[in-house]
Amino acid sequence: MKIAIINGPNLNLTGKRETHWYGETDFGSFLQKARTIFPEVVLYYFQSNIEGEIINELHKIGADASFNGVLLNAGAYAHTSLAIADAVAAIKTPVLGIHLSNVYKREAERHTDLLTASCIGNIGGLGLAGYELGILYFLKTKEQK
Ligand code: DQA
Repeated sequence: MKIAIINGPNLNLTGKRETHWYGETDFGSFLQKARTIFPEVVLYYFQSNIEGEIINELHKIGADASFNGVLLNAGAYAHTSLAIADAVAAIKTPVLGIHLSNVYKREAERHTDLLTASCIGNIGGLGLAGYELGILYFLKTKEQK
């Protein structure tokens, strides 16, 4: 089982920025923990603050049959980027949308998620646990096949 986690802009600052929304744990510590909780999963991690790099990464993963799924937190690009939405739609690898915060409790401009229609589902508002639940989802669906 191989899963890619793609994090978009500003998520490299998780644990430091707006901790009331995003929590106090940095993503590196979370990844370390996730790799021990799920030893059977190869967790590939990519973070970029640049829209085109996220798109290139989705294309690369889509062309690599060894990936079972993608957990994508596109950050603010989820609300603005038709180009990332098109990249999600363009690949066959299932993509699960993630938000750390509950965007529906926040400003109206965060209530639109352009990626949702192309994602298999979404997890939001559960902090880093959302990524853990996303990994569990891919494990479960692989078991059921
Ligand atoms: C976010 C929510 C976005 O609205 C915001 O721009 C982020 C993080 C989240 O994980 O809650 O950068 O994607």
